[in-house]
Amino acid sequence: GGGQKVRIAMIGGGYVGLVSGACFAEFGINVSIVETNPERLSALRDGRIPIYEPGLDALVASNSQAGRLTFGDDIAQAVTGAEAVFIAVGTPPRNGDGAADLQYVHAAARQIAEALTGYAVIVTKSTVPVGTSRRIAEIIRQTRPDADFDVASNPEFLREGSAIGDFMRPDRVIIGLDQRLPERASRAEGVLRQVYRPLSVVEAPLLFTGLETAELTKYASNSFLAMKISFINEMADLCEKLGANVHDLARGMGMDKRIGRDFLQPGPGYGGSCFPKDTLALSRIAQEAHSACRLVETTVQVNEARKAGMAGRIAAACGGSVAGKTVGVLGLTFKPETDDMRESASIPILHRLAEAGATIRAYDPVGMAAAKPLLPQDVVYCTDALEVAEGADVLVVLTEWNMFRALSPAELAKRMRNGVIVDLRNIFDPTAMRAAGLTYESVGRP
Ligand code: NAD
Ligand code: UGA
Repeated sequence: GGGQKVRIAMIGGGYVGLVSGACFAEFGINVSIVETNPERLSALRDGRIPIYEPGLDALVASNSQAGRLTFGDDIAQAVTGAEAVFIAVGTPPRNGDGAADLQYVHAAARQIAEALTGYAVIVTKSTVPVGTSRRIAEIIRQTRPDADFDVASNPEFLREGSAIGDFMRPDRVIIGLDQRLPERASRAEGVLRQVYRPLSVVEAPLLFTGLETAELTKYASNSFLAMKISFINEMADLCEKLGANVHDLARGMGMDKRIGRDFLQPGPGYGGSCFPKDTLALSRIAQEAHSACRLVETTVQVNEARKAGMAGRIAAACGGSVAGKTVGVLGLTFKPETDDMRESASIPILHRLAEAGATIRAYDPVGMAAAKPLLPQDVVYCTDALEVAEGADVLVVLTEWNMFRALSPAELAKRMRNGVIVDLRNIFDPTAMRAAGLTYESVGRP
């Protein structure tokens, strides 16, 4: 406070904690990141970034050097003197029912409570079910009845692969506070306005809401985007049946400002650590509230079926079966510019192909190390895209890495045994592919 520099602690140094911690440091804030995974921590301390995210290594290096960004496992040290303590630990789906597993969040709350020395706002950045912020307040009060604190819900909307840009230039920042206690809420609001002040340069609006609303807005936003993707995927299927072109359709729809052009790219089904988990969690939240989100429940089913059905599409392109065929796979991660394999469509697709008797060759520019433990054992990993094409009967594009767009159709045709391309991200020009003698199939266009 005052004229002094703002200090914050960030609990969790994963995608969200590390990116937002480094970005806050770039704003001039003193940031202590607490990470309990010893491998992640020692990497961070050695200046190695444990995840692939464009621009993150340079951002972490310069802010570490400037002394604004530090890493440790001592939560007491990080929390001492911090005006805000952000919780950015994982909230994976709980086994069985799809609800979010809050064990890491609750453990972090207990640790923070023990470490508090003066007033601090405890801010939840993790995606958490409605009611979690109040539960965190309860845990802290139980652990430390004397603690002086407020809780806030500040869900994060960054995307992997463009995380720094998304964090630095957000469409909005949502901050939920306990509006039942207006005086306390305004004190916490003051702290968070100061933390986010640098964003006024890019005119990012801060939207203050109640705790429940902020928590729910995060799930609603992710579920709406997931629904939008599933909608365009169904339109792509329909376009194929009717001879229409889904890209022109998406453009035509997207020019209507009420619809918007983004997130209308058809593909093999959405993946990642968030859409699959958050759509399931919202369905659970609604059920537990004796309400229902049927559109979201259906989106979950449509997307699961879509991922599973992609192997059949590949088999059909091979004349009905992939048994004994060599399938080349370009891209394994759930989207480009990340090494994250969580819920990637490649996982169910490659397992089905392997079960059906295909020989699989694959390449991903940064995701292969993370992919190996999740994919069938006998997948052959190649050193580049052209090596994947060598002797392949069919070449499947699963992730739209930019480097694949530049592949020459003639080079592919020369290397493949049977020139069948199944482009599940529509990165190639159908005319150019067919001109090179390749059999070319994509999603939702003739
Ligand atoms: P992650 O698994 O990459 O990172 C979480 C980190 O927290 C891990 O490194 C873990 O070791 C650490 N951790 C767990 N408990 C800890 C503790 N008590 N003290 C210190 N460190 C601890 O997860 P993530 O992808 O960064 O996601 C975190 C949360 O943010 C989730 O709720 C997620 O839904 C949400 N979110 C993620 C994204 C994204 O793009 N990945 C975007 C927006 C929101
Ligand atoms: C998503 C949201 O976009 C972020 O706003 C949110 O913060 C984040 O989840 C989260 O809560 O963790 P992310 O999963 O990193 O971000 O990536 P997206 O760009 O949203 O892509 C998710 C999946 O949807 C990918 O598999 C992608 O291929 C697919 N997708 C996306 C499509 O198939 N079509 C599209 O038009 C857009």
